[in-house]
Amino acid sequence: MDLESLRYKIPVTWSNIYLDNAGAGPLPQPTVKSIHSFLDEWSREGEPWEKGLRTIMDLKNKVAILLNTQASSLATIPNATTALNAVLATLVLELYSSKLRELKVVMDSYGFPTNYYTLLQLKKKGFIGEIVLLKKLHSDEKVAELEDAIDRRTSIVIVDHVSWRTGVAVDLEYMSKIAHDHGAFLVTDAFHSVGSIKVDVSNHGPDFLYFGSYKWLMAPHGAGFLHVSSRVWDSIEPLYLGWMGVRDGVLDRIAGGEKLFERELPLWDFEAPLSSNSFEWGTPSLVSFVGLSSSLRLMEEFGWQHIFERVANLARIVREILGDIALEVRSGEESGIVIVRLRDPITIATRLKRHRKIIVSARPGFLRVSPHFYNTEEEVEDASHAIREEVKKAE
Ligand SMILES: Cc1ncc(COP(=O)(O)O)c(C=O)c1O
Repeated sequence: MDLESLRYKIPVTWSNIYLDNAGAGPLPQPTVKSIHSFLDEWSREGEPWEKGLRTIMDLKNKVAILLNTQASSLATIPNATTALNAVLATLVLELYSSKLRELKVVMDSYGFPTNYYTLLQLKKKGFIGEIVLLKKLHSDEKVAELEDAIDRRTSIVIVDHVSWRTGVAVDLEYMSKIAHDHGAFLVTDAFHSVGSIKVDVSNHGPDFLYFGSYKWLMAPHGAGFLHVSSRVWDSIEPLYLGWMGVRDGVLDRIAGGEKLFERELPLWDFEAPLSSNSFEWGTPSLVSFVGLSSSLRLMEEFGWQHIFERVANLARIVREILGDIALEVRSGEESGIVIVRLRDPITIATRLKRHRKIIVSARPGFLRVSPHFYNTEEEVEDASHAIREEVKKAE
């Protein structure tokens, strides 16, 4: 598919230069249509439940290819925060009840703040002994800092793959190796990597990796995935369960081609070994996954490798144009996020939007410019020059 036909399917491009994909990706027209037709069928014929569940099965196969893993390692999640809390509840309670050691958690201060809050609660209630917040993980000094912080007491390491506030991507294989060498689990938020840069969980990847789909996968809220490495299945059991994800539950039956309610749901003979399915508790937002399925189809048609190359190239253009003025542009080479440190980012972002229809995001102390594969080279060049001009005017 060529760029022009692609952009025709993404209405936000018709009248804007949209460079806020790290905030939320735009919905393509086919995605909106598939959501509409699912809801329309529901209104006229009754709930298309099995159809929705089959979409999820199909999506798991697609996402497995994208992450280089098995579909069986994936669970649907409603959002990143729920996945994190499910994983933390499981890990912390499991480690606490084994009482082998006081629990120490090492986490990345450039990760999304949602990573921190439940940890603090768990610490307040005595389940966690120590939380170490790394300050430099998404910078050049990351290696030494992480190595210094992790020791034999460390049970959990939480790291975002790409930082929302620096754009730097960490080397997940390396992070996993350090965590695993010390007997710790690695938990990773990949919200800013899946869909924009290559993510491969096959070799020594994180034990848990999750992402939502409303940013770089250009789908609605309410749909995401959690990958659980098969390495952990024997060592821990989930804390929360629900009828969707238990063995011989709804999803197992659909996968086996069985009618869902021909037999009783498991009760007396129920067993709960951990598999990634166990993190699927109740009915997912099927309509969101229907939308995601459509967005993924569009991205697959364009080609994942082609997407990753375009994102890297577009981010490089932004960095090149903005890097030679008195702005500090901090970003790793790999991600689609470019950070521009500014005194008054809100005024600049507002002016860009109002006067030039250029959409970027303003965050405290910086402007975030995040192109995606559907943007053109001319768009990112124009936008970068416009940012320079607006910054000059504001001086
Ligand atoms: C890296 C990252 N993780 C998590 C979140 C929060 O996601 P959710 O609200 O879907 O849980 C965000 C939101 O912007 C984010 O940027």
